[in-house]
Amino acid sequence: MEEILAEGKTKAVLTGPRPDTVFLEARHRLTGGDAARVAELEEIGVHKTRQAAASLGYLAAAGIETAFLEQASPTRLLCLACEMIPLEFVVRRFAWGSYLKRNPEAKKPDGTPLRFDDPVCELFHKHSLVLPPASAAAEMMREDEARGLYLRDGTWAEGVFTDPYIATSLETSQELWGLYDQRSPVSGAPLFETKPVLSDAVLQSVFGEIILPAFAALERAWAAVETLHGAVALVDIKFEVGRAPDGKLLLADVVDNDSWRIWPGADPTRQLDKQCFRDGEPLAQVQENYAIVTELTNQFAA
Ligand SMILES: Nc1ncnc2c1ncn2[C@@H]1O[C@H](COP(=O)(O)OP(=O)(O)O)[C@@H](O)[C@H]1O
Ligand SMILES: [Mg+2]
Repeated sequence: MEEILAEGKTKAVLTGPRPDTVFLEARHRLTGGDAARVAELEEIGVHKTRQAAASLGYLAAAGIETAFLEQASPTRLLCLACEMIPLEFVVRRFAWGSYLKRNPEAKKPDGTPLRFDDPVCELFHKHSLVLPPASAAAEMMREDEARGLYLRDGTWAEGVFTDPYIATSLETSQELWGLYDQRSPVSGAPLFETKPVLSDAVLQSVFGEIILPAFAALERAWAAVETLHGAVALVDIKFEVGRAPDGKLLLADVVDNDSWRIWPGADPTRQLDKQCFRDGEPLAQVQENYAIVTELTNQFAA
């Protein structure tokens, strides 16, 4: 019997047809601002599934080990069942989005994006940090739990920090990881200190062997996609990592139009990714962008 193992913001995890496998079933839903903004969009799950299958298939062909096995239906991916690591691994080619809130000096006076010669890696915690006045004592909890307790009518309670930025031991040489508000410059004492989720050595190997090679491969794939406005620039991306049944760390979860920023001709005004939804563009436009991106990811050369 098929069983729902977990229900996330935009997909469900179901038992797979073989031991050690799961189906990731996409819902026809987009969320933004850590679920502060939610919408149901017809067929969007079909687009996201196709985009993920094309992207993960391309990464596998590029030699990156992923949990993805195959697309099993219009809205389902068959994957290795992983124990997910509660971290978001972010890589940036351009300074944009929350990076500019943490690093306002990277904002160019003319509004054009600063390009990094070497991609910048950042780490965020998937668990939410809850501080007074939201709770009496500082604690960390799963985001879905925090949502139930502290998200009211699209607004998070004061003292709740979703996806906090992590200053890792690699940067600070401190034993504990420091957590900061991802929307403000990272300076001074952290809001909270937490036990490292991964050791320095493992973290370094995940970035070096999985995250940066995956970014490089997808950046190449996008650069080869021509549009009316020029090749597509991969601006930034969020990856997740899981531990496979054999203990190996793999690229897991999905890579789709919610995961990255992509700009035809490296022009921010031509964004095709989920940012258009966060920015409140008409839902018909959002839907059209997802359909375009599906067409474009289908061009990723195997
Ligand atoms: N290969 C995998 N094996 C097991 N669980 C996975 C795998 N890939 C993704 N997941 C999990 O699927 C769940 C649903 O995804 P999603 O809707 O994106 O959740 P979230 O609300 O946490 O972003 C998440 O808990 C995620 O960790
Ligand atoms: Mg998710």
